[in-house]
Amino acid sequence: MQESTLPIEAIADARTFTDPAALNALLARIRKTDPLPYIEADDYPPFWLVSRHSDIMEVERNPTRFINAPRQVIFPLSYEAQARAASGGVETAAVMRNLVLMDGADHKAYRDITQSYFTPKGLAAIVGDIEVLAKEFIGRMDKADGEIDFADMAMAFPLRVIMTMLGVPQEDEPLMMRLTQQTLSSQDPEFQAKGGARAAMMEMFAYFKNIIDALRITPDDTLASVVANARVDGELLSDRDVFGYFNIIATAGHDTTSYALTGGMLAFMQYPEQLTKLRADPALMPLAIEEILRWTTPVKHFCRTATEDCEVAGKAIKAGDHFLLSFPSGSFDETIYDDPYTFRIDRKPNRHLAFGTGPHVCLGQYLARFELQSFFRELLDRVEHIELAGEPRFVEGSFVGGVKYLPVRYTMKQQ
Ligand code: HEM
Repeated sequence: MQESTLPIEAIADARTFTDPAALNALLARIRKTDPLPYIEADDYPPFWLVSRHSDIMEVERNPTRFINAPRQVIFPLSYEAQARAASGGVETAAVMRNLVLMDGADHKAYRDITQSYFTPKGLAAIVGDIEVLAKEFIGRMDKADGEIDFADMAMAFPLRVIMTMLGVPQEDEPLMMRLTQQTLSSQDPEFQAKGGARAAMMEMFAYFKNIIDALRITPDDTLASVVANARVDGELLSDRDVFGYFNIIATAGHDTTSYALTGGMLAFMQYPEQLTKLRADPALMPLAIEEILRWTTPVKHFCRTATEDCEVAGKAIKAGDHFLLSFPSGSFDETIYDDPYTFRIDRKPNRHLAFGTGPHVCLGQYLARFELQSFFRELLDRVEHIELAGEPRFVEGSFVGGVKYLPVRYTMKQQ
């Protein structure tokens, strides 16, 4: 582990996430010295940095004391002001409301609309389709000349899965790729929309409105139709709420899974003996996927806000204080994991926090696991050898991120 020289406030700086070794060193230092520091940095709202696995669990599992509204993430105030200005002063909340910013009974009622769809049983109907898509995407490697940017494929596959579920035709996927990246990875200069993340969101709103209107006239049995026609207290969801639902599924269900795929592939190339081990014993696949999720932890943080004065880890918290929950820190906490900085596909138990915990735990966690398993199973079946062909690059972003450029060289098995 390298020495960390970064100041603690670097944890909220998008640039820190382009260098995972420096990020890990910083988080390890924080866990060791003061695991719950109060950070007051220029251009940021003050916040408590929650770095230990046990403290993240405590905050997430007390949803009355620590709520999701009104702040989803800790971003620079100047960045938020720019986004507001770019959208003519319109607040995001005026355009859409989604699960992440809801609490209590409201959150439960909206989550219940799709909860059963996203259980392993509910997803059984589409697992076969996901496997067919995994074959199609890995099949693209047959046609290439043995060198690709693996990130291209890893971005396109989860996008296809989630967009199919939302009723978006294949020809509109490039548009959706751009809009989801401009919304979620909006801190990265490569993904910035002209009018900011909110402009991308408005464009997405107009697009989904057409799909929603059509499904209200002619419902079917797809997830998109379930959401478009959902009722809470007997009323159809408002535009703001129904768009919020489409938006959160489209964005949360895409880049996150892609970064687990690229980061998982990079880990296999850096630890080739782990790939050999998995080839020798494919029954290890479910454990390997959990280790990939821990290792990559694509969601870097979410925020919570205290509703009352209280104590966490011996610190006096005031009502209204914000918390930055550092999921990568929880996933590498040395009090939970032996040898956390080694990628080990048979790690067990592996109670990582990549999907969070508590009432907001990732709605799509089983879908993501199916996607990752189908993809890597197909890769093992079809690809004989794969290695790095250049320097990987990581997303500049403190919210969702991972490997965004992954040049690889490979040979396929003879069929
Ligand atoms: C590897 C892939 C994924 C990762 C790492 C991930 C991670 C997360 C995390 C950390 C949260 C917040 C949990 C918390 O606050 O405790 C979350 C929430 C959520 N995720 Fe995922 N996610 C992934 C894939 C997906 C997929 C495929 C979907 C598709 C539907 C999805 C939909 C959602 C939704 C809707 C929420 C909000 C849930 C709520 O607030 O009640 N995610 N995810």
